[in-house]
Amino acid sequence: MNKLTADELREAYLSFFESKGHTRIPGASVIPENDPTVLFTTAGMHPLVPYLMGQMPHPAGTRLTDVQKCIRTGDIDAVGDSAHLTFFEMLGNWSLNDYFKPEAIAWSFEFLTAKLGFDPKDLYVTVFAGEDGIPRDDEAIELWKQQGLPDDHIFPLPREDNWWGPAGTTGPCGPDTEMFIDTGKPKCGDGCRPGCHCGKYIEIWNNVFMQYNKNAEGKFEPLGRHNVDTGMGVERTVCMLSGLPTVFDTEIFAPIMAKIDELSTTKPDDPEQTLRARRIIADHMRTATFILCDPKGGVKPGNIGANYVLRRLIRRAVRYSRFLGIAPGFTVKLAETICEKYRHVYPELAENLASCKNDLEAEENRFNQTLDKGAAMFAKVAEQLKLHNQTQISGKTAFKLYDTFGYPLEMTLELAKEQGLEVDVAGFEEANLKHQELSRTTSAGSFKAGLQDNSEVVTRMHTATHLLHAALHRVLGPTANQKGSNITAERLRFDFTWPEKMTDEQIAAVENLVNGWIAQGIDVTRKMTTVEAAKAEGAMALFGSKYGDQVSLYTIGDVSKEICSGPHVQNTKELGSFKILKEQSSSAGVRRIKAVIGNM
Ligand code: SER
Repeated sequence: MNKLTADELREAYLSFFESKGHTRIPGASVIPENDPTVLFTTAGMHPLVPYLMGQMPHPAGTRLTDVQKCIRTGDIDAVGDSAHLTFFEMLGNWSLNDYFKPEAIAWSFEFLTAKLGFDPKDLYVTVFAGEDGIPRDDEAIELWKQQGLPDDHIFPLPREDNWWGPAGTTGPCGPDTEMFIDTGKPKCGDGCRPGCHCGKYIEIWNNVFMQYNKNAEGKFEPLGRHNVDTGMGVERTVCMLSGLPTVFDTEIFAPIMAKIDELSTTKPDDPEQTLRARRIIADHMRTATFILCDPKGGVKPGNIGANYVLRRLIRRAVRYSRFLGIAPGFTVKLAETICEKYRHVYPELAENLASCKNDLEAEENRFNQTLDKGAAMFAKVAEQLKLHNQTQISGKTAFKLYDTFGYPLEMTLELAKEQGLEVDVAGFEEANLKHQELSRTTSAGSFKAGLQDNSEVVTRMHTATHLLHAALHRVLGPTANQKGSNITAERLRFDFTWPEKMTDEQIAAVENLVNGWIAQGIDVTRKMTTVEAAKAEGAMALFGSKYGDQVSLYTIGDVSKEICSGPHVQNTKELGSFKILKEQSSSAGVRRIKAVIGNM
């Protein structure tokens, strides 16, 4: 095994796939750009769905390779064990209806063994066993055998294990083959095999063969294209290459763990609890820092959707910091450490560190105050229950802890568990719904609707956002710069730097400009170029990712030029019309516009 750092692994991967004819493309923002159905980017495929569907050719060609920052918080409660993370980097190689299983499997094997130096006898794979009228993936089995893998290293498993997608309710999907490294630990039992969660076999890479489409009736029909979507986890692979027991022991986490230890002043009696608290703080602060520094911006600690996920990450870290006697102010210090570790790869961390630190400090202070009050209330509740020989905290009380004291339900659940109590979760939810009529789910990574159900209107909103940005520059000047953007199927939201409320005349001027451009029916064109060349042409560049020499540049006549991953409409007339619904303050020095498109 070649002991590689994360930096070395990224470079080894990208250059290996370049040598196989792939073009490096930049990864996307962790805050989805044109997909209202997810709160965060959970896989490299999100930004590529239109190209996987064949709706349009990708400007960089049919073989792509990238590093994608991913956030998955569905398993947030499992963080603290050896491998779960809410943020991770995923290396990918993509075939857009180009090569298929033979090349994908051969290259995976070559990279793992010849480049990374894994011993083939430690390599195990799983393949799709067949289900719902779709046959077993005998081709993948045969291809793995051709690489020299013995039968007892190849495990056909059902859909539950070896099928990926679709991302929404409908869309591209297919069987996959997953690659595992045997850690050498003893089997946990007779049924232990790759895919078992005991920690003997660690999955590091997944090759998805996207050859099916799940249609609206829930049937799998041939997609008519053969895509490959692969994902290799950076943290886990570095861990396996170093022969270390957990991802938190790798060089990736070393400076973060060291900082946590430096700030800690006490240790819980139970060493397991110390370990768990350190890992939770490290993981959650890394994720929160990447969200707050994201170039797209717009997610702040709050009570709904992505904002709530961010709040929960920060607040959990704060709560666990108390186990270790870490003094207030630690979130800012950890963000600095995390920025130092990653800034050469993700320049946005350094660029947005100052505002990230402000947000962290404010949220930490807010939470510390409520935590003190809530702890007193929780103790009282627990005491009362015990006095009456009861074990369940009512939904109403849990909601009061949430609403008045800022305790997320999950935290009440954790505290209750520590005290041997239960919580009436259904009652909490009822109280919560009644009170807030929450419109959005709070569980990140859950896809509520089909991606492509909304993709058309989202694409139009996306182009409208470029026009709005250009119009703001014309009306307010070049300092009215994008700070954040968020698109749902209902509206677009655009944050930009501007010190004061826009006047009615300015708003009308912006609307008129955009509607004028729509009426003119201007063609939207896209070309591949370098960041430098695009900037030299006067393009607005909002994203700074070090990877990918080639970026796509969208030009709307002489109205707008922006580096952007798309997709966009082909002509501005497809937008119909544009209307600003609201202009309001977003934060100090930042204004927010909400707008819609359609026939007025
Ligand atoms: N989309 C697949 C995954 O996340 C492969 O990239 O595992």
